[in-house]
This record gives sequence, C-alpha cells and structure tokens, in this order.
Amino acid sequence: MEQTNVPQVMFLPFPAQGHIKPMMKLAELLNQAGSHVTFVNTDHNHDRLMSHTNLTSFHDRSPNFLFRSIPDGLRPDKARSVSNIRELLDTLQTVARPAFRQLLISTSVRPTCIIADGIMSFAAIDVAEELGIPVITFRTYSASCTWTNFHLSKLIEIGEVPFPDGNLDKSITCIPGYENVLRSRDLPSICRVEKAEDPLLNFYIRETSTMTRASALILNTFHELEAPVISILNSIFTKIYTIGPLHALYKSRISQSDSSNCIGLWKEDKSCMTWLDSQPLRSVIYVSFGSLVNLTHLQALEFWYGLVNSGKQFLWVVRTDLIVGESGIDPMELEMVTKERGFIVSWAPQEEVLAHPAVGGFLTHSGWNSTLESINAGVPMICWPQIADQQVNSRCVSEVWKTGFDMKDTCDRSTVEKLVRDLIDSKREDIMKSTDKFARLADNSVKQGGSSYSNLEKLFEDIRSMSP
Ligand code: UDX
Repeated sequence: MEQTNVPQVMFLPFPAQGHIKPMMKLAELLNQAGSHVTFVNTDHNHDRLMSHTNLTSFHDRSPNFLFRSIPDGLRPDKARSVSNIRELLDTLQTVARPAFRQLLISTSVRPTCIIADGIMSFAAIDVAEELGIPVITFRTYSASCTWTNFHLSKLIEIGEVPFPDGNLDKSITCIPGYENVLRSRDLPSICRVEKAEDPLLNFYIRETSTMTRASALILNTFHELEAPVISILNSIFTKIYTIGPLHALYKSRISQSDSSNCIGLWKEDKSCMTWLDSQPLRSVIYVSFGSLVNLTHLQALEFWYGLVNSGKQFLWVVRTDLIVGESGIDPMELEMVTKERGFIVSWAPQEEVLAHPAVGGFLTHSGWNSTLESINAGVPMICWPQIADQQVNSRCVSEVWKTGFDMKDTCDRSTVEKLVRDLIDSKREDIMKSTDKFARLADNSVKQGGSSYSNLEKLFEDIRSMSP
C-alpha cells in the first residue's frame, strides 16, 4: 500500500440512518479540513443514497471524497428494519466483516486511520490491528448510554438483567453516576431479554468491550450536557472527542451551497414547511419515530386519537414502513379529521422543522440524533422510546436535563392527550427554563472557542499528526 502525507480517513458506519448521518457530517468536515475521505456503506444503503444524490456535482465539489460499498449479506428483498436486526447483525459478521477486510487490504493508498462505528468494531478492529492502522471508535449514542453499556456484564452478574420477576421499576444502583436515575425500564432495550445468553445482548457486550481497543472515542454530544459521565468515561478512553451536536457544528462550518445533501436514506417532503408557515407560534406538535421504529395499528390509533383529542395541530412523519400488522383503522376517517388539524408526510426535513417557530414540541422515539436536534433547537419533548439507546435517552431528558416528559411503555390516548396539552400549554413554562438553557449551551459549544468546536480542531490536528 502506498503512503501519502495527506491524511486518508476511512469511515465505516453501522448501516442505519441514525449512524450514517452523523458519521457523514464528520466525514465532510474532515474532508473540508484537507483529509481525503473514503466512506464505506453497505451496497443496499449506497444504492439508496445514490438514488437521490447528484453524485457528479458532489464529486465536482469534493473530488477527494470517495464512496465505497460492501455487501450486508441480507437478500435484496429483505427489509433492513428492527424486525430483521438480529439477522442483519449475523450477516454483517459473516459477510460484511470479510468484505471490509478485503476492501482494506486491496486499497491502493494506506488509510491514516479508520473511524469505525462503535458497533462495527467486529469488522474494523482486528483487521486494523493486523495492518497497523489506528482506529478511532465513533459511538453514535449519548455518553450516558455508552457508559450504561459498559455495565451490561455487571448487571447480568448481579442478577439485575434479565429483570427479576419482570419488575421494570427496580432501581439500578451499579452504574456510578446514575444511582438515583435509572430503573430497569430505563436500561437499553437489549436488557429486556428472557435469558442472559441472548445473542443481541451479548453482541452489545462484545462490541462495547472491543471498542476499548481503539485509540480514541468520538461522541456526538457536548461537554456541557454530559460532563460528569464524559469524565468517568475518561477512565476507559484517554482521548475523547465530544463534537456534538454535529449537525449544528456542521452548519456552522459548511455553507449550505457546499453541503452534500447525500446524508439521508429517504427523500424529504418539504411541503410541510409551507403548512408550518401558516401555523401560530409554538402551536404545533411534531411527531416522528425516526428511521427504524415500527408501530402496530393499535398503537398508531392511540397516538392519533391522543393527538386529535388534544386539540393541538400536529405534523406527523408516517414512513411507508412505520405501521405494521393487521389494520383495524378506517383510513378515510383518519384522513378527514387529520386534514383539519394535522399534516402527514412520509419523511420531513427534520432539522428545519425543529427550527421552525411554529413548532412547540416534539413527540419522539428518543433516538440520539433526534434528541440532540431537539435540545439544540430548544424544543421540549414527549418521549416514547422503543429500541436500543432510546430508553436511556428518554430518562435523561425527563430526569437529568428536564427538557421533556418520558411516556415510556405506554401510549394510550388519554396519556398522549394530556402530555401534549402539558407540553404546549400548562407545564410549558417549567420545562422551557431547562430547554432554553441547554439550547444556549449547545449553540455555544459549536461556536469558535466552544467545547465541541475546539475538540473538532483537536481531532483534525491529531489525525494530521498520524500521517507519515
Ligand atoms: C437509530 C436508533 O434508533 C437510535 O436510537 C440511535 O440513537 C441512532 O440510530 P433512528 O431511529 O433513525 O436511529 O433515530 P435518530 O437517531 O433520531 O435519527 C434519525 C435521523 O433522521 C435524525 O437525524 C433526523 O433528523 C432524521 N429524520 C427523521 C429526518 O430527517 N426526517 C424525518 O422525517 C425523520
């Protein structure tokens, strides 16, 4: 492999929107700062991204930014959704892992370093060690959830996972810093298993431990939001770069005309922005469950009744694959009432929506990107977490940062109605104090001299110093 003194950075994200998006933003920032970048997606996601990307104009602007792809091992007709996550993880390990190794070995220019997703450590770390290439691990979760994941083995050892007698309200006391915060129900969803040998739970235990072989950790968070836990994580990683909210850092450093627009797996429907323009200030509740979560028809109906009965206007992202299972809903009825008080799109320009003055609250699944985007926009949340890190995030939103309400494990129409009213009207003043404070801190962190801005500069410098 040839070596050059221009930094060559290879990115390996986990193949899901919530992972690709922040890694792509960082890749563009590094590219703009002079590094050559190779971004490795799965074939499936590569095709989706390219189907609505003008690659020629992207390459004209960024000739030193290459896309490569590897198979994920799933049959083309299989959905890449929560229902197939176990199968996807299996095929990634058997098919994507050797494919990434082959790609790395056959690349003509030696990467200066690999920035690998924390849950792609199985694919990146062994081969990087074999070839002597440094790896920086990018965990796309919050610092709080990353720290929680370091205690999964301990939780099993002391008998707190699987949950004894299915008790979801037991206080969790073995995670330093979170003794008075977390209950069983607030642990990552992988803890909701029948036996400790569960393959998904053990995948996370292995990946979390493998990550520690990386030379540094990148987190999409900001110091002022999670300072205590970031400093505890320093006992595991001597170098941590907190560079979030990355979408805000990206906006502050890359002009709109230079931005790639190839960071989404869905095509945005911007028609909702005109509808928002006609709504009063802070009156609309924005509803989105991210890119992976599914609802049953019954759950969708409860949300819909709760929203309509609240009397508030709502903008709801209903992805084509959001609602699963048998239907008990009359779509005509939904459509007619929704038209009076709501607007439905299949994919929204979420960052723009959250920044719109008509938006007064966010009913969210508490994915980490959505949480950070909401904090940054100063929009309080109602959290309905489902998978992965979302249970931890929603608990931090309600109990630590106090920027929203946690509606975990229930979505009956009366709870939805009440919380929407609380958020938009009756409890707004209480929740806005903290929401405004963290929005300001987030904003400052990405400005020149701010914590995330400075950490990004340090990351650039450290990567430059790895070049021969
Ligand atoms: C997944 C996991 O579910 C999440 O828990 C984890 O933290 C990251 O990976 P996802 O479910 O997609 O992510 O949620 P989230 O992290 O919130 O990311 C969704 C992204 O898609 C956000 O950046 C959001 O702005 C964007 N989005 C979502 C849109 O642009 N438009 C939409 O209509 C919905």
